[in-house]
Amino acid sequence: MPAEDHVSPVTKQNADETAATDRFLSLQALTKRYGDTAAVDAVDLDVRKGEFLAMLGPSGCGKTTTLRMIAGLVPTTAGQIVVAGRDLTNVPPYQRDMGLVFQSYALFPHMSVAANVAFGLEMRGMAKADIRARVAEALQLVRLTGYEDRRPGQLSGGQQQRVALARALVIRPLILLLDEPLSNLDAKLREEMRNEIRDIQRRLGTTALFVTHDQDEALTMADRVVVMNKGRIEQTGTPEDLYERPRTAFVAAFVGRTNRFPGTGAGEVVHVGGVTMRCARPVSGPVEVMIRPHRIHLDGAGERRADDNHAAGTIIRTTYAGNVVQYDVQAGDAVFNVEQSTDATGALVSVGTAVTLSWSVANTLVFEAAP
Ligand SMILES: Nc1ncnc2c1ncn2[C@@H]1O[C@H](COP(=O)(O)OP(=O)(O)O)[C@@H](O)[C@H]1O
Ligand SMILES: [Mg+2]
Repeated sequence: MPAEDHVSPVTKQNADETAATDRFLSLQALTKRYGDTAAVDAVDLDVRKGEFLAMLGPSGCGKTTTLRMIAGLVPTTAGQIVVAGRDLTNVPPYQRDMGLVFQSYALFPHMSVAANVAFGLEMRGMAKADIRARVAEALQLVRLTGYEDRRPGQLSGGQQQRVALARALVIRPLILLLDEPLSNLDAKLREEMRNEIRDIQRRLGTTALFVTHDQDEALTMADRVVVMNKGRIEQTGTPEDLYERPRTAFVAAFVGRTNRFPGTGAGEVVHVGGVTMRCARPVSGPVEVMIRPHRIHLDGAGERRADDNHAAGTIIRTTYAGNVVQYDVQAGDAVFNVEQSTDATGALVSVGTAVTLSWSVANTLVFEAAP
């Protein structure tokens, strides 16, 4: 008897609903090889319906290749791409209903804004009146009503990227795929656009996959972040998971700034260049210790606050950055980078001052040393 016969219609329906929401997009052992090297190496990933997922990693780790396989622009070597329970692995790109936004905008320069946005609908053979209504709606969404007749060259970078976003959204895509869409914009505009993209995506409830090498962007925008390294997933979690509970040294160092020290584990403690500190789990042998600069307290020499770990040191460099000040503190053979918020007094601790550093066990992350 086939297995399906044992499944009651109700159970079957629940299973289908789970597939439609918790695993709206499902990558299964997705792989892309170029010659001997795997650009994407057996990636498994489930994305919920309506979720905003950021794929974060250094240049060359396989983010764009993953996104392009989902879009159908790069053929897979192995594995499956399933959307809403349907295997799209071998479906041609124009039948996948993916909305794509690239770093380079990729607008048609000789066409008006309205024509650029209408393009996908015309390809689908939609009636002229419906196209007009949908284009107007999409341009309103990205606050470009009134710009219909302009050419891309007559718009700022931010406006061009909003046209690209409207063009992707106008088809009401199953999934919005964004590949470093903010990387060509200047810093201030980039931050504004983060909120704008997130607001639009929330309002529409569109499932979105956002590729970036910028950890700030990933942490501030995403519901969940996938950290990739060399074609593989290192860790998937909420921004807080990745920042506070990194599972690998790679994730700890890539997500947020951190001190990194080679050390030697001796049970409950680790020795780092003459400084002994307690750590969250027993370790032995060569380890890598990471402590976030802003989780270290800086007090005067001899002032010892109640905390798990302490080190006596001397300020060797002071770097003022407006909102924060960074101190490099020589303690034993190690140099600790310590970050403090500034206040209106503007008082900085000067180079040569003797200080005490304090930090907690929870902020003393230890990892196996890389072989
Ligand atoms: N068409 C191609 N031919 C050969 N190698 C490629 C090709 N496209 C990408 N690669 C390689 O695959 C790896 C992943 O590239 P990519 O997905 O573009 O990374 P990312 O977007 O994370 O920077 C890189 O090592 C890159 O050189
Ligand atoms: Mg890329």
